[in-house]
Amino acid sequence: MLPYKTKICEPLPLTSREEREMEMAKAGYNVYSLPAETVTIDLLSDSGTSAMSQEQWSRMILADESITYSRSYFHFVEKVKEVFGYEYVLPVHQGRSGEHILFKVVVNEGDHLPSNGHYATTQENIHFHGGVAVSLLTQRAFDPHSQDSFKGEMDLDSLKSLLEKERVPLSLLTITNNDGAGQPVSLKHIREVSKLLRGKRIPLFFDACRFAENSFLIQKKEKGYEKKTIPEIVKETFSWGDGCFMSMKKDGLSNVGGFLALKDGDLYEKLRSFLLLIEGFHTEGGMAGRDLEAMVLGLEEVLEETYLTARVEQVHRLGERLLRSGVPVYQPFGGHAVYLLAGEFVPHISPEEFPSEMLASEIYVEGGIRTLPDGIKGWNKRNGPDSGSQPFFEMIRLAIPRRVYSESHMDYVAEVIGRVYKRKESIRGLCLTYDPPFLKHYIARFERI
Ligand code: F0G
Repeated sequence: MLPYKTKICEPLPLTSREEREMEMAKAGYNVYSLPAETVTIDLLSDSGTSAMSQEQWSRMILADESITYSRSYFHFVEKVKEVFGYEYVLPVHQGRSGEHILFKVVVNEGDHLPSNGHYATTQENIHFHGGVAVSLLTQRAFDPHSQDSFKGEMDLDSLKSLLEKERVPLSLLTITNNDGAGQPVSLKHIREVSKLLRGKRIPLFFDACRFAENSFLIQKKEKGYEKKTIPEIVKETFSWGDGCFMSMKKDGLSNVGGFLALKDGDLYEKLRSFLLLIEGFHTEGGMAGRDLEAMVLGLEEVLEETYLTARVEQVHRLGERLLRSGVPVYQPFGGHAVYLLAGEFVPHISPEEFPSEMLASEIYVEGGIRTLPDGIKGWNKRNGPDSGSQPFFEMIRLAIPRRVYSESHMDYVAEVIGRVYKRKESIRGLCLTYDPPFLKHYIARFERI
C-alpha cells in the first residue's frame, strides 16, 4: 500500500494518436525533445521528478536565504554528515556539477577511473578532463534472465589487473548501477572493492544517487542484513569509502540539488576553491536556502521503510505485469526502473538502426508514455575513446518517479507496452540525421527508415 495520499492533483495531458505521431516527428524521433505537455505518463527519468511531501514544502518557507553560512546550510551539512558519516560536505546544484568539480581536481591526462558503471555525465566528465572511464561490470550482468541478486557489481579480477597496469587516482561504485539495468551492489562486494583499493592507497568514491534503494535491496537480499535497519546499512556502506557525490534529484526526494562529501580535508579545500568559481558560494552550491531545506527532509523521508517498501514494490509489480504479457524485461528488477530488452522485443532491427530509440518512440505514439532508450551498442560505436569496451544490451528504461504515479497508471503503462509488443513485427528502425559531439542521446535527431 502507498503510505501517503493525494492532496494536490495535477491533470495528466491527454492527446490523440494523430497528435502524438506529429509531435514525435517534430521531435526528430528523440523522446528527450518532446514537449512534456504532450506526454501522459512520463517515465523518462526518476531524476528531479519526485513529489515532495507537505513537510518538505512547509520547511521551505522556514528556510534562511542569507548569502553565506545560512541556517539552512548548517541543517544540510549536519544531515549529510549524520546519514553518510563523512566530515566534509559541499552542496552542488546537481550531480554532474559534483562530478565536474571532483574530476577537475583529481584527474590527470591518461588516468583511468574504473567503475561498475559510469552514468553518461560521469563518463563524459572523466573524458573531458583527459581521463579514461573504464566500466568493469561483472559478466553476471550479461545474462538478463538470471535471478542473481547483485548483478550491478564490478569484476574484481578486471579491477586487479587494471590497478597493476594503469594510473588510477580514484575508483567509483555507482549504487544502484543505473547503467547496469538498475542492479544493486552488495555490502560483501563493497567491502572487497574497498580492501583491494586500500591496499594500493586508492580512494573509493560512491556515486550515491540511489543509495537508499541500494540499501533496501541489501536488506531484502543479502544474507546477514535482514535484521539491520536501513540507516545502519547506509552507514556501513559509506564507511568503506572515502567520499561520494550525489544527485539529490533521485534519493534526495528533491527537484534539484546534490553534494560532494568526503573524509579528506586537503581534497575538500581544493574542491571548494573550484566550486566557488563555477557553482556559487560553497555554503549554497548554486541553490536557494529552501532547496537545502527540502533536501534535509528528503534524506529523512527516503530512509523510511514504509516508503522504500512501497517504492520498490511498485517497480517490481510493473515488471511482473510486463512479464505476464510476455514482454522481455531485464531480471531481477532493481530499485528505480524496469528495463525492457529492446533487442529481444524487436530482434529484426539491427543495433545500427537504433532499436531502443525506435521502440521508445512507438511506445509514446501508442499511449503517450515517455520512456528512456538506453541503446548502448548503437551509441558506443560513435561515442569515442573507451565507451565501446563493454557491449551491453539494447534497453528501454521505464524509470518511475518517486511518490508520483498510482497503480492504475502502472496498469495503463503495462497495457500500452503489451499492445506495442503484439504489433512488434511491423516496427522498423531509425537513421541518424543529427549527430552531436557529445552526450549525443540527449539532442540527436532521427528519421524513420
Ligand atoms: N549519476 C547517476 C547514476 C545518475 O543516474 C545521474 C543522473 C547522475 C549521476 C547525474 O546527476 O542529473 O543530477 O546531474 N541521472 C538521471 C537519469 C538524469 O535519468 O538517470 P544529475
